[in-house]
Amino acid sequence: MANKRVLVVGGDGYCGWATALHLSALGYEVGILDNLIRRHWDATHHIDTLTPIATIDRRIAAWQRLTGRKIDLFIADVAEYGQLAPAIETFAPDSIVHFGEQRSAPFSMVDREHAVMTQTMNVTGTLNMLFAMRDFAPQAHLVKLGTMGEYGTPNIDIEEGYIEIQHNGRRDVLPYPKQPGSFYHLSKVHDSDNISFACRIWGLRATDLNQGVVYGNSNETGDDPELVNRFDYDGLFGTVLNRFCVEAVVGHPLSVYGAGGQTRSFIDLRDTVACVELSIANPPDPGRLQVFNQFTETFSVLELAERVQRVATQRGLTATIEHRENPRVEREAHYYNAKNTSLLALGLQPHLLEDATIAAMLDLAELHRDRVDLAQIDPNVQWAPGTSRGRNASSAHAPSPILPPASASLTPLRR
Ligand SMILES: NC(=O)c1ccc[n+]([C@@H]2O[C@H](COP(=O)([O-])OP(=O)(O)OC[C@H]3O[C@@H](n4cnc5c(N)ncnc54)[C@H](O)[C@@H]3O)[C@@H](O)[C@H]2O)c1
Repeated sequence: MANKRVLVVGGDGYCGWATALHLSALGYEVGILDNLIRRHWDATHHIDTLTPIATIDRRIAAWQRLTGRKIDLFIADVAEYGQLAPAIETFAPDSIVHFGEQRSAPFSMVDREHAVMTQTMNVTGTLNMLFAMRDFAPQAHLVKLGTMGEYGTPNIDIEEGYIEIQHNGRRDVLPYPKQPGSFYHLSKVHDSDNISFACRIWGLRATDLNQGVVYGNSNETGDDPELVNRFDYDGLFGTVLNRFCVEAVVGHPLSVYGAGGQTRSFIDLRDTVACVELSIANPPDPGRLQVFNQFTETFSVLELAERVQRVATQRGLTATIEHRENPRVEREAHYYNAKNTSLLALGLQPHLLEDATIAAMLDLAELHRDRVDLAQIDPNVQWAPGTSRGRNASSAHAPSPILPPASASLTPLRR
């Protein structure tokens, strides 16, 4: 197998854990690098995944017990070069899948500290990764997770990363213009520019995966309690379909922000892990950044609520839909037509959103119904402060519990 050593950065997270197991099951030699900060943010913001997840050590041990496959673990912060570089040098990856960033738009909009931390940590982490690759793994292929949210909602078709432009009688293929919708999405735009530059000047190679909102479960995390993946439904890190499923199960109205005409791209987690594998197997030439739009379908928020409502009603649940004041500043009705042909051309066989998938998510929510905390669901982060819902989640003057205390500072650890 070519490109067989893969380092999954952010491998303790939702997409990263599923990807690490999928690649390991396929026979790749997998390492996980994670600083576990997501678990810290959950604790300090008083939120929790609906599904109880095991510690990273127990997860990896369970995988080895069940499959005989080993996964190396590096507890390290990508944004700390002194922690990242030794891990890259030691593991010597052929491919690096970089999921390890602060990934919530609301989190980045809480206040100044959260915005600064999101951009500092994400941009510094990717920049460190590029330098570590230049110095210790120049042949490796960086597969970096971006987001479809980088593009915004332009009134023209969204291409895959680049657009051919004719201007004053001359033509060029240029990066597609970005109109991101939060400081988090902006961090991804900055990452893309840094990666593109590093490829040009150092001859690195990279794939930017502009991913839609991910839902569902992957095959490898299965039913084993130690392998179970996270399921975020809260107002800070939760994703919309998860929120609707939890609301349906507990009899809470499905909360649609604003008119619900906001159209976004979506992808099943089984397709996420397949897309990452396809990307690893198809690296670009040195010096090039290739960009794939990683989603399979688009839905408006209201369409999704109606889909969940229909499946929930068939199960005898009472699911009403409630439009709520939109905490975000975004268009609630707009044109949206994004291209996604590259990964299909490489062989992706999409799992489209079927009623059975929604039913499986409702099953999961019902299984963990006793863990549902309705207080977590409300959105309490406003894009525009001073609106009628009041101040953001953390006071502008109070110290924000963003980073672990200094006493818990992380040292690189390889097991
Ligand atoms: N989940 C989605 O719907 C979605 C959609 C589009 C793009 N993405 C992108 O995919 C990636 C993974 O998303 P996710 O949902 O799995 O997020 P997640 O929060 O579940 O996982 C991210 C993981 O990265 C780790 N991490 C964060 N900062 C780190 C750092 N500085 N050093 C080391 N580890 C760090 C966290 O501890 C966590 O385990 C993110 O980059 C996100 O932007 C996700």
